[in-house]
Amino acid sequence: MFVFKAAVVGAGTMGGEIAQVVAAAGIPVVLKDVKQEFVDTGLEKARQVTEAQLGGLVGKEKITQEQADTQREELLGRITGTTGYDDFGDVDFVIEAVPERMDIKQAVFAELDEVTPGHAILASNTSSLSVSEMAEATLRPDKVCGFHFFWPASMMRLIEVVEGEETSEETLQAAANFAQAIRKTPIRCGEVPGFVVNRILISSASEVWRATEEEGLDPHEVDRVVKDSGTIPMGPFFLADLSGLDIALHTAEHLRDSYGDRFYVMSKMKELVEAGDLGQKTGKGFYEHG
Ligand SMILES: NC(=O)c1ccc[n+]([C@@H]2O[C@H](COP(=O)([O-])OP(=O)(O)OC[C@H]3O[C@@H](n4cnc5c(N)ncnc54)[C@H](O)[C@@H]3O)[C@@H](O)[C@H]2O)c1
Repeated sequence: MFVFKAAVVGAGTMGGEIAQVVAAAGIPVVLKDVKQEFVDTGLEKARQVTEAQLGGLVGKEKITQEQADTQREELLGRITGTTGYDDFGDVDFVIEAVPERMDIKQAVFAELDEVTPGHAILASNTSSLSVSEMAEATLRPDKVCGFHFFWPASMMRLIEVVEGEETSEETLQAAANFAQAIRKTPIRCGEVPGFVVNRILISSASEVWRATEEEGLDPHEVDRVVKDSGTIPMGPFFLADLSGLDIALHTAEHLRDSYGDRFYVMSKMKELVEAGDLGQKTGKGFYEHG
């Protein structure tokens, strides 16, 4: 199946950038959120990423400033921001990127089932929830799968294509093909907690969270030492802030509940989330964000 038009539902930390990735591959994409201000934030994110990418190419003299200006306007022109479903009647592939709550996801999947053509694949960017449960809200469970990007979506190459209980082979193949069409590398995963990447990533982050809390260390200092080691570009607390503490906490809890105490849930992270300090998206988390 070819994807001539795609849609992204949820224009938050992930959605705006996912829409940019799709548009950068030459595919028109609709970006939907519940309020115009959220749509605008997603569109602005797409603009910033595009400016940075094209600016980098100009800086390296791969393209001229004039070419960059044309490409930017063409790319951004492929993204249609909306708060409604009017533009979903001819989409082939939808990526849902709404908050990590099954009730919200199921409501969105039921709506998507109504408004998209029967052949459209409905994919979720969920980090940890059951794709099969989302599929239950639709009449096309064979066309529902996971399509898990990593933050920041414009830079990270991997996509986990997750197989739900009823996902068809054709859907998995089409999703893998679409991932390649948007210049990503797909891997297929079973529907297990943490899939592949978070099971590895959170197990190591978990040990840092545990040691920090048990030994009363300063998260900023821990981040500094980890970053200075040169092994990874940023420390685990800064990374959690940038990707959203609610998402990090939810994933950590899900892995701890699934695999036991070898996955650690940090009390401080829980406190911050309960206080509404979710990291960069709310301006404050382990760090203050300007
Ligand atoms: N943040 C990350 O690092 C990351 C990485 C990979 C996957 N994910 C997954 O991506 C999904 C989204 O995460 P996020 O960090 O972008 O969340 P977010 O909270 O930053 O953004 C979610 C957006 O969805 C919107 N929304 C809520 N209900 C909606 C509805 N009914 N219709 C349309 N839009 C709606 C919200 O207004 C918000 O703008 C989650 O499932 C998360 O697990 C997140």
